Formats: sequence, C-alpha cells, structure tokens
Amino acid sequence: MYRTHNCGELRMSHEGTEVILSGWVQKSRDLGGLTFVDLRDRYGITQLVFNMDENEDLTSKARKLGREFVIKATGIVRERSSKNAKRETGDIEIDVTALEILNVAKTPPFTIDDDTDGGEELRMTYRYLDLRRTPLQRNLIFRSQLAIETRKYLSDQGFIEVETPSLIKSTPEGARDFVVPSRMNPGEFYALPQSPQTFKQILMVGGLDKYFQIVKCYRDEDLRADRQPEFTQIDCEMSFVTRDQILDTFEGLTKSLFKSMLDIELEDFPKMSYDEAMERYGSDKPDVRFGMEFVDFSSIAKGKGFPVFDSAEFVAGICAKGISETYSNKDIKKLTEWLQRPQIGCKGLVYVKVNGNGTFKSSVGKFYSDEELAKWVKLAGAEPGDMMLLLCGEKEKTQKQLNELRLEMGRRLGLMDPKVFKPLWVIDFPLLEWDEDSERFHAMHHPFTAPKKEDEQRMLNGDHETMKALRADAYDLVINGSEIGGGSVRIHDRDLQSKNFDLLGFTKEEAEAQFGFLLGAFEYGAPPHGGIAFGFDRLNAVMNGQNSIRDFIAFPKNTSGRDMMIDAPSPVSQAQLDELSLNLQEKEQTDKC
Ligand code: AMO
Repeated sequence: MYRTHNCGELRMSHEGTEVILSGWVQKSRDLGGLTFVDLRDRYGITQLVFNMDENEDLTSKARKLGREFVIKATGIVRERSSKNAKRETGDIEIDVTALEILNVAKTPPFTIDDDTDGGEELRMTYRYLDLRRTPLQRNLIFRSQLAIETRKYLSDQGFIEVETPSLIKSTPEGARDFVVPSRMNPGEFYALPQSPQTFKQILMVGGLDKYFQIVKCYRDEDLRADRQPEFTQIDCEMSFVTRDQILDTFEGLTKSLFKSMLDIELEDFPKMSYDEAMERYGSDKPDVRFGMEFVDFSSIAKGKGFPVFDSAEFVAGICAKGISETYSNKDIKKLTEWLQRPQIGCKGLVYVKVNGNGTFKSSVGKFYSDEELAKWVKLAGAEPGDMMLLLCGEKEKTQKQLNELRLEMGRRLGLMDPKVFKPLWVIDFPLLEWDEDSERFHAMHHPFTAPKKEDEQRMLNGDHETMKALRADAYDLVINGSEIGGGSVRIHDRDLQSKNFDLLGFTKEEAEAQFGFLLGAFEYGAPPHGGIAFGFDRLNAVMNGQNSIRDFIAFPKNTSGRDMMIDAPSPVSQAQLDELSLNLQEKEQTDKC
C-alpha cells in the first residue's frame, strides 16, 4: 500500500494513528538532531519529522532526500509543538518510522511553489513540473468542476450533448483553418473545425432541438493572452426560440455557474446595443466595472482656433476622478508616450485639470478661455480634483485609442476589481463589415447569422449603402471587458442564406461547393434556430480574475503556437510526406530551378 491518507488530510483527530503517506519532497531542513521534510501531493503538504537520536539510519537517509524525490513514509501522527496556522495540516506532523524512496529526481529548473521563479517558456517546457504547483492544480480542478456544472445545468434544461466531427471541410469564420492532408484522397484536405457551427445547425434541421457540446475548436490566428490556436467552447444551439429566449437561457447558465462555483449572485445582465457600446466606451466589449465613459467634445471644442481640434473629425475624452493633484507633469508625459507607441498610435494628449479651487490647468489653455473650459467641465460632469483627458482624429480610430486610454486609466487607478463581475449583453451588431482593401463585405459574426427581422426586406432588395447599415440578430456576452461568448439567431431560409453568400462575394458555384449541404438541408424544413458559444477557457480565466487563459489549459501553446514540451509543430519524414502526396522537397527543388 502506498498511502492510507493523502497529504492534505490529517488533523489533530488523527493523533496517535499510524499512517502511510506518499508524495513529493517539497523541501527539507535540518535543525540539530531533527530533520523536517515537507511532503506534498495534490491535496496539501504534511510535515514529516526524523529524529537522529531515535533513529540514526533513517534520519541519515532523510537528509539525503532531494527536492521532488518521490517517497513513501510510514509513521505516527502527533501534535506539533510550533503549529503552522497557514497550513490545513499545520497542527500535526508525522513521526516517521519507515522511509522508502520510490523515485529520485533531478533538481528542477524552477521552484515548484505558488510563486515560482520560472519564466513562462521554461514552465511550458517542463509543464509536468509546473503542473505540480498549487495554482495550476487549483485552476485545472476549477475547470473540471466548471465543465461538470455546465453539463448538469444544460442537461437539466433538456440539452443533449452531441459530438461533431473534428475532420471537416473548411468553414469561413474569420480565422485561417488548420488543414489536414488526406492520404486516401491525394491532394485533398480536411480542415479542423473553427467551431461546430454548421453541424449544430444541421442538428437543428435534424430535429435535435437543444444541443450542446464542450468542444475543442482550432483557429490559425495571431495569439494573445486570451487566444490559443486550440481552445474549448461550450457550444449550444436551440430550435423554435426568439433571441430573448436564447439570451435568458444562457444568462441562466452563467448565473448558475457563478452561484455554484463562486457563490456569487449575479444581477440581471443589462443589454447594450453595439452602437451604444461604441459611443460610450469605444469598444464592443466594454469593461463596465468602472465609469469614465466617453464624452464627445466635438461640438464645443472645435472651431475655437486650436488647429489640431479644428481639423479633426472627432474630439472626445474621459474624466478621471480625483487625480488632478496627484498626476504630475511627468505622469502626463509618460502617459502621452504610452499613447504614442505604435500599438496605439496617438499623435498627442490634451488634458484639463480641474483644480480644487475650481480653476483650470490645461495643455490647451492658450486656445480656450476659462469660460470655454467651464463648458467642457459641465459636459463631462467633472468636479474639482478631476482631470479630463482628450484625444482627437478620425472617429473610429479615436474611439479605439480612447478605449485603450480608458482601460489603462482603469488599470492605473485600480478600478478593475478582480472580485467584481459585471456581465452585459452587447446586441444588434452590424451584419456586414465593408473591407476597403478587398472591396468586399465580411460577415461581422459569421455567414449564417440572420439580419434583424425588420432588416430582412432591405437585405433582399437594398443597395450597397443599405447593406452597410444592416443590423444582425447577433449578441456577445461580455464580462469585465472580456468577450466570453458570441452567438446569433440564424438564417433558416434558403433564399436569404443564398443572398447572404452573394453579398459576401461567393459566386453561386462557390456557395454550392462550400455550403451545398447546408443550403440543401434548408430545403427540407429547417426550423427557426439560434445559439451561442462560450469561450470555456476565457470563462475560467475571467471567473478567477485573470486575463491569460494559458494557466487554465493543461498544455497550452506559446505565442508562436508551439507546444514547448513536446516541441510541436515539427518536420515529418519524407516517407510520410510521400504517403500524403505532399512532395515538398520536389516543390522546393522546382521553386529553386
Ligand atoms: P465566436 O467566434 O464568437 O463564435 O467564438 C465564441 C467564443 O469563443 C471564444 N474564442 C476563443 N477563445 C480562446 N482562443 C481563441 N482563439 C478563441 N476564439 C474565440 C470567445 C468567443 O466569444 N460558432 C460561433 C458561435 C455561435 O454563433 O453560436 C463562434 O464560434 O470567448
């Protein structure tokens, strides 16, 4: 037997019991004749004690134990003389009577502790060591429980979990596909699904009514803290439902998950249109934990002789509370430099400080009288002690930059409390986006999203400008500035779907070749349907107040899309390439010629 108990289990009530524990050596220390070893497993840490006076051989053996050795210890539970209140097992220790080394270990390349000294790449390379750390184990346990709670809730609501294939045909959803060559069909490729979108719609045509799946999705896109090339969705679809019924169902799921996992009762989620979100926050995923909403100064700041504002399409700003005295010229200079980095690309920053005595200090004081500035203050609702920060330029670009500034100020002023959760639905997204470069429309969500009912006729008959203004019956679930989920009511009418493909630049033949199966299915009685997919990794991270999803994934990829542990992707043999009819070498030679 390797163990009678785990390393997080023993308490004073076990005093005097003989126990066997197995685990990893967290650390050991020698104090005079006594050797203390902290033994760790998934459940906790228990202190082992070896006494030189009582058992010399055993204690000498214990002194040779290195970090991360795997051992089995037998001994008697006893009360500790100096208790450790920070540890659940801190009242007791084990007076060891027998010790077996189950495996030795090399010295790990970083400390296996809550706060590790290992950089992220190193931790990914030695993921098996990183996984021994409590924060990672806690994250994976949370993730496992979240999946269980999701399944419980959706199953209680009548959803059935259906698996859809991983080797599919490419569907355009915004990102590039990962493709897989088919050996049996030379020159042809499968694609890994970016999402099971078309399959879940087909399941609705198939009469399954309520579907869900916790499913891996694959997207070959640039990676960020909240993006991985393979990630997991809670993917859902329902038939015979209106948009609001869909939103109610998944608001219900979200509330239930916050309650069961964090014991937090979320209030009803507000709904905000895409247009409103852009006007108030310059983002379709606003973090509404804090205010600092946009103020449009265009009408009162332009035409007063300040050339920069006069020539700008849009002048807007935010009001940061209570920092006019503490924010020095140096701070403002640094903030301006931060905004001028190429990632953000601002030309400059205008500030107006409202001093405690009601006077102003501003970078544009020579262009605007105090009476003029007083109008700005009124518009922004600024109070003595506040500082207004203004940007200007082309409207869309300025909105994006001001969004970055707002978030940065939120961070700097500590307004993003990780323990506060503010979800909202962003609704009524544009259906199509016009891309100047390719001179084509792109679907803002995906090509299967329905226009809003009132826009349907305009979509079928309208001109180019009308198309730009069409609204979709699409929605995102946003929590604390993170897009947690996205979905839509779908087109279920063949003609409307064909029209959409047409608008997106597909010829009839291309649409038939790519989506003939879906268009065909729509001819056999497709029910009205709609759904949503939650980013499961993101939901885990956000619920734990974190931005990066990497530590909620057991084996994540780095920012170049590499798995550092198994060293993938990697070259394959010529024989494999030949078998797949991928004659790369031949091609390289031809290219060289
Ligand atoms: P969408 O593309 O909005 O919708 O994706 C749904 C959610 O998946 C998460 N997500 C990601 N998470 C981690 N890494 C990524 N690379 C990544 N990409 C997306 C986000 C996002 O909100 N088929 C539609 C859903 C539908 O219409 O029902 C879809 O996939 O949290």
